[in-house]
Amino acid sequence: MRIGSDEHKELFCRTFVDSFLPFEPAELPWPQLDDLALARLRAIPIWAMALDTEASAGRMLAGFAKSEPDALVRQALELQGYEEDRHGRLLAHLVERYGLDATVTPQPENPTRRAFIDFGYNECVDSFAGFGIFKLACDAQILPTALTSIFTRVLVEEARHIVFFVNWIAWDRARRGYAYPALQAPAVLLGYGGAIARRAGMGAQFGGAPNAAPSTGAELNLFADVLDGLTAERFITACLRENDRYMRDFDPRLLRPRVIPALARAALWVLPIVEKLRAPAKPSPAGTTAAKP
Ligand SMILES: [Fe+2]
Ligand SMILES: [Fe+2]
Repeated sequence: MRIGSDEHKELFCRTFVDSFLPFEPAELPWPQLDDLALARLRAIPIWAMALDTEASAGRMLAGFAKSEPDALVRQALELQGYEEDRHGRLLAHLVERYGLDATVTPQPENPTRRAFIDFGYNECVDSFAGFGIFKLACDAQILPTALTSIFTRVLVEEARHIVFFVNWIAWDRARRGYAYPALQAPAVLLGYGGAIARRAGMGAQFGGAPNAAPSTGAELNLFADVLDGLTAERFITACLRENDRYMRDFDPRLLRPRVIPALARAALWVLPIVEKLRAPAKPSPAGTTAAKP
């Protein structure tokens, strides 16, 4: 199958549309939470940002889909818009039910191809990190399984979204005359570079905002289970394993996001070398002499 062909378009659109899962957020089995679970949920600082991102993505996709001349691609874009809006409704239900702090300021509409592309690359970065964070949080049981199992469907949908996006953009660039990988590479690298820079900017914003992140020892203690023994290597390994697991089920002829997993694998290779290089620089305990190798 040639990437960018009609056969490719049929496959990535049909794969996405046919795997739609019908559900209504308010009808899901939301559990009663004990005080510790509620405190942990309320200390997570991302609810307002997540709610805003999902709801505005739904509106952006609904608007952008109208500009798509191909009926099948338009149907798939509309469906993704519906699913993003449903993620927003699911988060709104969570916020209301458990009394979380999430005040959202509506963002201006921007239903353009550029906005969808930026959003798609953002999702490739966010989903990769989200797969690992979710797995580590589930393993550490920081929230009851009855609640985390509700979010499993969101992660499955995000996996479908990023696979749809990387196939859509390869097909879209091909129809614009940029079918060869060498012609697409600069735009791909710029896309991921922009997404990483936007995420780094958001991280800095979270770190600097007075009320945006857990800022007290008491709040951090709520997550001691998951933070205990957490290293960069363990986090990246969890992201890679989970990413591989989500990607395994898609048709082998479809493209998968490759850049972020490749960077993560490179980081796993580089981190031990950096650690080794830094080790001799560590001051030896007072009065002792560093052992010779
Ligand atoms: Fe979403
Ligand atoms: Fe998504």
